[in-house]
Amino acid sequence: MKQGEQITLDEPSTPTFGTDEIIHSNGWPLSSQLSPALLGEVDLPGDKSVSHRALIFGALAVGETRIDGLLEGDDVLATARALTAYGVEIVRDGPGRWRVWGTGIGGFKEPARVLDLGNAGTAARLLMGVATHYPFATFFTGDTSLRGRPMKRAMEPLIEMGARVTTRSGCRLPLSLIGSTQLLPITYTMPVASAQVKSAILLAGLAAPGKTSVVEPSPSRDHTERMLTHFGAEISVVNDAESTRIITLTGQPELAGQKLSVPADISSAAFPLAAALIVPGSQLLLRNVGVNPLRAGLLDCVHEMGGEIKLQNARNLSGEPVVDIAVVASPLRGIDVPADRAPSMIDEYPVLAILAACADGQSRLRGLDELRHKESDRFASILSGLLAAGVSVSNEGDDILINGRGAPPPGGAKIKSHLDHRIAMAFLVLGLACRDGMAIDDGASISTSFPDFVDLMSSLGARIENV
Ligand code: S3P
Repeated sequence: MKQGEQITLDEPSTPTFGTDEIIHSNGWPLSSQLSPALLGEVDLPGDKSVSHRALIFGALAVGETRIDGLLEGDDVLATARALTAYGVEIVRDGPGRWRVWGTGIGGFKEPARVLDLGNAGTAARLLMGVATHYPFATFFTGDTSLRGRPMKRAMEPLIEMGARVTTRSGCRLPLSLIGSTQLLPITYTMPVASAQVKSAILLAGLAAPGKTSVVEPSPSRDHTERMLTHFGAEISVVNDAESTRIITLTGQPELAGQKLSVPADISSAAFPLAAALIVPGSQLLLRNVGVNPLRAGLLDCVHEMGGEIKLQNARNLSGEPVVDIAVVASPLRGIDVPADRAPSMIDEYPVLAILAACADGQSRLRGLDELRHKESDRFASILSGLLAAGVSVSNEGDDILINGRGAPPPGGAKIKSHLDHRIAMAFLVLGLACRDGMAIDDGASISTSFPDFVDLMSSLGARIENV
């Protein structure tokens, strides 16, 4: 969605199977060029994870939920459309201001169409959790990227709770899920830390009697737990010595409609923040950024690299900590990023790799197998994109090694974004500091999380253009 564009939550008038290939066939090629200092104060789009959850919990609560600061990106709009297909009434009052009339748990009607969730993995996995509440079939699909992503990890616990799932081969979308009115509460030990899978289980557990527990190998983002508490559910969290985390939800609560403010997305703030660090003379103030400790690993990395950032005006917004971030262009040094930091910055590795490419010395980013299962294979996209830009980069198993030369690489390459917004934005940011700029084949996916990225970056002085 572009600035000023109308938003409609109406049913698509034509079948949406496969239309992404047609829509993206011409792509939206973009280039970024060596830019003057980036200067200014900015408000960034709402947090994507919190926005999905605000709509979903609003729909499951009884009565009206008012949301402001909602991200109006394609992914969140896909969640809103899916909820309307379940009969939930959702209205947009103005930019970022939305109202949801929740039906209560168990109050959805059978969708008369396939839920097409576009590029949105969070929407697919969280809504699979919700779909378990109902004895009817919900059909899920998405774009080429989402149809290629693994769903087994979310399906397995939901099947244990009583859902029946049919997928195409490899447990990929399209899939259909038939839930049950007699869901079983379970205790599920997750093989990998995933906030989406954890949330799918907790959402399913809302309709089960008794206690549903999730055991995480290491803590993943806890927006679901925070929001469940905000909406009135009973939830307990126990951290043990081995950094295992056990989250227990008491099922069948009555959730009450709320007023919610969504903080700006640290995963989107990461792009102007990184650009300001590597474009000489830059100075930016990023306002109202969510700094949930389970999301803010990038800020630890920037500190260790010697980046000058200051967190100011700490406050709380609907149960989430927020700050304003002042950032100044800085010489950076290479760092060793431990694998256990990955869950707290899993979406920030593409942009961290850009910082490492401009830093002095080697950076080692450890334990990144999960990057292979994102909107694209980000592990491969980071390696090939940096190589094309003239960076010395390699991998050892699941670690990425980047040899920075204390200055940006020459650039001058065009890279494939593979329908991945964060790959697209990361390499455009790199181009702002490169002698020969950078280009991407298709920036259409940027609208999934940061619809105004090009306009906002341009307003700060960045040279990003259609090609
Ligand atoms: C998200 C969780 C993460 C993250 C994604 C958003 C969420 O995925 O990469 O962009 O909102 O729960 P995983 O759960 O697969 O780690």
